Amino acid sequence: MKIDEIDRLLKEATKPWEERVKDKDLFEVVDEVFDTSTVMTIIELYRRGVLRKISGVISSGKEAKVYLGYDKTGKPLAVKIYLTSTAEFKKGIYKYIMGDPRFEGLKPKDTRSLIFAWTRKEFSNLSKMYEAGVKVPRPIAYLNNVLVMEFLGEDRMRYPLLIEAYKELTEEELNTIYKLVVEELEKIVCKARLVHGDLSEYNIMVKPEPLDIAIIDVSQAVDVNHPNTYDFLKRDVENIIRFFKKEAKIETDNTEELLGKIIPCLEKRKQSL
Ligand SMILES: Nc1ncnc2c1ncn2[C@@H]1O[C@H](COP(=O)(O)OP(=O)(O)OP(=O)(O)O)[C@@H](O)[C@H]1O
Ligand SMILES: [Mg+2]
Repeated sequence: MKIDEIDRLLKEATKPWEERVKDKDLFEVVDEVFDTSTVMTIIELYRRGVLRKISGVISSGKEAKVYLGYDKTGKPLAVKIYLTSTAEFKKGIYKYIMGDPRFEGLKPKDTRSLIFAWTRKEFSNLSKMYEAGVKVPRPIAYLNNVLVMEFLGEDRMRYPLLIEAYKELTEEELNTIYKLVVEELEKIVCKARLVHGDLSEYNIMVKPEPLDIAIIDVSQAVDVNHPNTYDFLKRDVENIIRFFKKEAKIETDNTEELLGKIIPCLEKRKQSL
């Protein structure tokens, strides 16, 4: 969408008694291409008082881009925008949505509603985890394909992912992080009644001083009653053990031991519908 067009939409969207916004105030992102419906969604979030500005790109993936944004008080936000779907994406997310009791009645052929449902699912997962005390970014709002959450970082710089940070960490620090990851894994199942489904060194952030972690990217997390929870949990545990054993080279539980700690909880949670 062209800048003039965004400007026109913004003028239309901001009523005369409201402060007029110009595209350059709201979109501080140079050379970014947003489709019309995404621009309208961002404007609506602006009107709702959630978002004041979209600034630089934090991460640019195949399915979603994450931007640094600001609220009206100037607090930084992370704004995750799902891109208009590719066939691959649709195939990829289908198995997580189907079988989840929260998405009954969704017409899978409609790509737009699939993406909106996916965004809603990420917000719902994030909220459940946050309320259960899991270390995730605080969910703030969602609308259509846009999710707004707490920005994890300092001075406009996001915290590093575990994959980026581990080589600089001491053995003691890696041991601490392993323990923290196991704690979060247990909390996700036992308290939030979810299974992450994509847990790895790419979706764990490392916060410095005091050393801590945050779990991100929870869109594919499923309810404990989803038919594939065992497989997803096993994969999460295998990923974590493989990373800490092979890459970080520290002593860990083995996969069976760690699964053994979590599965009783999963069974209990499954029963207590
Ligand atoms: N709340 C946040 N605060 C700061 N940075 C974030 C936040 N959430 C995500 N990021 C950054 O954006 C990246 C992508 O986010 P996320 O993992 O949620 O999306 P993704 O769908 O996996 O995208 P990709 O395909 O790029 O991995 C993360 O690796 C991280 O660097
Ligand atoms: Mg990710």
